[in-house]
Amino acid sequence: MTLNQLKIIEPVAGDYNLPNYSEVRRSFKWEDAGEDLSFNKTGRLNMAHEAIDRHVEDGYGHKTALHYVNGDERVSYTFKEVKEKTDHYARILKENGIEKGDRVFIFLPKTPECYIAILSAIKIGAIAGPLFEAFMEDAVRDRMNDCGAKLLITDKEMVKRVPEKDIPTLETILYAEDIEAEPFIDDGKQYTEWMDAEDGMLIHYTSGSTGKPKGVLHAHRVVTHQYQSGKWVLDIKDDDVYWCTSHPGWVTGSVYGLFTPWLNRATVVIQGGRFKAEHWYKLIAELGVTIWYSAPTAFRMLLSQGDVLKDYDLSSLRHILSVGEPLNPEVIYWAWEELGVRIHDTWWMTETGAHLVVNLPGEKIKPGSMGRPFPGIEVGILDEAGEVVPRGTVGQLAVKTPWPGLMKEIWGNKDKFDSYFKYEGWYVSGDLAYQDEEDYVFFQSRDDDMINSSGERIGPFEVESKLIEHPAIQEAGVIGKPHEVRGEIVKAFIVLREGYVESPELLEEIRVFVRNNLAAHLAPKEIEVMDELPKTTISGKILRRELKRMEIEKSAVDQNA
Ligand code: PRX
Repeated sequence: MTLNQLKIIEPVAGDYNLPNYSEVRRSFKWEDAGEDLSFNKTGRLNMAHEAIDRHVEDGYGHKTALHYVNGDERVSYTFKEVKEKTDHYARILKENGIEKGDRVFIFLPKTPECYIAILSAIKIGAIAGPLFEAFMEDAVRDRMNDCGAKLLITDKEMVKRVPEKDIPTLETILYAEDIEAEPFIDDGKQYTEWMDAEDGMLIHYTSGSTGKPKGVLHAHRVVTHQYQSGKWVLDIKDDDVYWCTSHPGWVTGSVYGLFTPWLNRATVVIQGGRFKAEHWYKLIAELGVTIWYSAPTAFRMLLSQGDVLKDYDLSSLRHILSVGEPLNPEVIYWAWEELGVRIHDTWWMTETGAHLVVNLPGEKIKPGSMGRPFPGIEVGILDEAGEVVPRGTVGQLAVKTPWPGLMKEIWGNKDKFDSYFKYEGWYVSGDLAYQDEEDYVFFQSRDDDMINSSGERIGPFEVESKLIEHPAIQEAGVIGKPHEVRGEIVKAFIVLREGYVESPELLEEIRVFVRNNLAAHLAPKEIEVMDELPKTTISGKILRRELKRMEIEKSAVDQNA
């Protein structure tokens, strides 16, 4: 059975924010986007103002902006309270000499303080650099050094993973506990710095197949694209309780966990703690979550827990979205049968700022497809010469430039930035896909060696570089090995130095070495020792594709055995 023959899930009748899709797809212009945003009326722009302060000015100060849940702990803040808190953080950042354009990093768990710290840096015109909470020393150091971080907001526990002495530009470390303990002074001051659309706002480090992670810089203009996708794709309305499960250190967590829902005045749920099916369902039931955004790995983990969901009243859910990795049709059918709610896949990237290919709530879903281009976005499937291929043919998934969410630059790396635009007028994603006659886009694979494990983007180079720092390792090649639940897992092939002998203890030591220096999700789940690694004859480069081919062949044999 091909994907095109899978059962289509028809739209459910509803009062959606985007009433007439085909008309809007035809006539939409980006100039008309962001109708509610205040800069369209005042000409003054700042993401933090649009996300929080605007709502207070418009009379929504008493609306609940967030619910924080961690175990039995519950905290809620109104928009007015979030505004005051961002002003409070902003004042302290200013007192510490932070100016427009400075890089302020945020290294905190998924707590309200993390969200508020990010917004306060943006409010005063700094560039916010949120770090994933599980990063270890080397990952923290590489990212902060790359763009010359000046200040870090962290807490007294996580600071143990900050190698302060190795980050020469870092002038100040502030602790969230201390900022919280200081009383809020209502000095009536306006902390918002009005920004140019092209001024930097947010930097996220992300991986490709070569080199260390790159700093993707977004400008304040991204606000239009994010607002509009929140309205149409997330379908946010005033009485919605919205939960995105990602940490703001990932782009999904910042763009769709923080900016986009607040640009649309949603009540945002922030959930601390690790994944546990019972906790997740309980949270949905207790808070009455209506819109839920997560990733296929999480849905697959929930699916594998079977009937647990029957113990909870999940009837508040009206809209579910997925992102980050291929969404398998089984998961869509599961949610449809068990919850009576459709899962809407969405496709975009750190570099693209917001959604590009989406399943809109009032349109039919073709399981196996990521949906259709967002209004105002033109997708092209290109061949090697940069020509659009016929429908149904697999090629490079590309997008017509420009659009408001597109990254501004790769920090300090113009060559890397330019490499996305090798065909005139197109942004090339690095994904392979095909498009059908009705414009639906079907993801096939990456076009490079990037690994996608549980929706987290992992660069093999960063892992390999760490592996060869271990005294036992002479060479290392890292690939994504297909995995039923996580999509892929990190697998390392290594050649040992002379004098070292393979043993379970040594392999475990290597795994722990990567975990303790980089991050748990970057540590190889499997390590295989080889006599030599396959290489190109001329340049001697390790052939990851060959390793992957061998691995896939081997698992096919295992399965048939
Ligand atoms: O390969 C695609 C995959 O994730 C990559 C982007 O990763 P990142 O920048 O970390 O952003 C993740 C969330 C925006 C893409 O190049 N990807 C993203 N969404 C999907 C996907 N693969 C399949 N289906 C998707 N819906």
